[in-house]
Amino acid sequence: MKLLVTGGAGFIGSNFVHHVLKTTDHSVVVLDALTYAGNRASLDGLPDDRFELVVGDITDAVLVDRLTGEADAVVHYAAESHNDNSLHDPRPFLDTNIVGTYTLIEAARKHGTRFHHISTDEVYGDLELDDPDRFTEQTPYNPSSPYSSTKAGSDLLVRAWVRSFGLRATISNCSNNYGPYQHVEKFIPRQITNVIDGVRPKLYGAGQNVRDWIHASDHSSAVLTILEQGRIGETYLIGADGEEDNRSVVETILEAMGQPKDAYDHVTDRAGHDLRYAIDSTKLRTELGWRPAYGDFRAGLADTITWYREHEDWWRAQKAATEARYQQQGQA
Ligand code: NAD
Ligand code: DAU
Repeated sequence: MKLLVTGGAGFIGSNFVHHVLKTTDHSVVVLDALTYAGNRASLDGLPDDRFELVVGDITDAVLVDRLTGEADAVVHYAAESHNDNSLHDPRPFLDTNIVGTYTLIEAARKHGTRFHHISTDEVYGDLELDDPDRFTEQTPYNPSSPYSSTKAGSDLLVRAWVRSFGLRATISNCSNNYGPYQHVEKFIPRQITNVIDGVRPKLYGAGQNVRDWIHASDHSSAVLTILEQGRIGETYLIGADGEEDNRSVVETILEAMGQPKDAYDHVTDRAGHDLRYAIDSTKLRTELGWRPAYGDFRAGLADTITWYREHEDWWRAQKAATEARYQQQGQA
């Protein structure tokens, strides 16, 4: 297959592109606007005969129409992805996440192209810490932030295009990813690179919020499985049973990096901060036989710390501007 991967120069998209080129015969065209979150270097070393990067915007209907018409399938990762940014400047989230997705599904409908839409567990809102239930494909949508509400909107557009226009689409909603090539604005890389720089990690509020961590390579294998075997019109939740509260994650990072485990600061909490996410991925596991390879979050975190230590050339240029933005927001 020839895949068009939007947002392939970002964190999860680039992990997916590496995974596809390593484990299949598919070829890949990445469409990415190289916003502050995109990094050409995340795609270094890929085979020229099966890989191409097109720098462009998913809201550019002419470009999207041409690339979609040339592809066998579109895997749509491109998004404005950071909750904190969405609270300070929501407009780009509407343009990329809503209008960009609309532009892509219109092209996929016209050309009859298979479409896989990448989404998030945040569309379901949050859970109480002691709620025995986790999110399933039946959980009602209840997003909290400008980011998650635009992702929810994009999911609903895809569902409507399936029902009304016969779009050959699947959707996946995944939990929090960690691993190589993640921007230093995000929780885990921010704290790892802070410690490398001799700066104390920053915990929002009391740090009791729970996220359900999955390694980006496991997200990639799940998406490929859904693309190749998923039923059209279906939604699949992706998760690896990796619930951890933020304080434990910071303490684990500090200990793994040889620091006292209480050497962190509490900073201003995020507005509307979701308390807990937790995914039940039974449907994906039973219907399509997918399993995560990273069973142990602490081992995956140790690999991730090593990657950031060894790839300072990849993240250094982003660090100062990112921390300046957090400083302005009172979260530094
Ligand atoms: P990211 O911010 O690291 O990467 C986003 C990429 O999209 C960047 O390369 C950026 O340049 C590109 N992009 C942004 N606007 C664009 C536009 N208008 N046109 C073309 N390219 C554009 O994001 P990520 O963390 O890799 O997330 C990728 C996808 O996965 C998103 O759809 C996100 O909602 C979803 N997701 C993320 C997580 C997570 O934990 N990070 C979990 C579940 C789902
Ligand atoms: O659940 C999937 C979502 O996970 C994706 O849809 C989003 O694109 C992705 O960014 C992520 O959203 P979160 O808001 O959960 O991730 P973030 O890395 O921003 O924060 C993780 C948790 O850590 C959250 O509870 C806020 C907290 N936090 C974050 C930062 C940056 C801190 O305590 N300190 C920090 O410095």
